[in-house]
Amino acid sequence: MARHLFVCTNTRASGKPACGLRGGELLVAAVQRVLLERGTPDVLVTPCACLGPCFDGPNAVVYPDAVWYGGLTATDAERLVDHLVDGVVLAERQIDRPGS
Ligand code: FES
Repeated sequence: MARHLFVCTNTRASGKPACGLRGGELLVAAVQRVLLERGTPDVLVTPCACLGPCFDGPNAVVYPDAVWYGGLTATDAERLVDHLVDGVVLAERQIDRPGS
């Protein structure tokens, strides 16, 4: 299955610790590096604006699985790519979908 990881790299959150200031950009770079190393053309990672649950950041979501992640760091890159490629969820970083 082709999966797509969206990582919040927002740097401006009103009164909140924005993901882009908490390592979101570093996480995107780390995931891109792992994707290049593994040669996985069917999956994507895209930086994006605020996903909503700012206090848990850096936050990310994988589609089409609709699995949400919070409190990520660049050290989670390998396991996020495991999710993108094999569907193995990084359970200890999973958070509830905002509004659920
Ligand atoms: S700043 Fe990342 S979810 Fe809001």
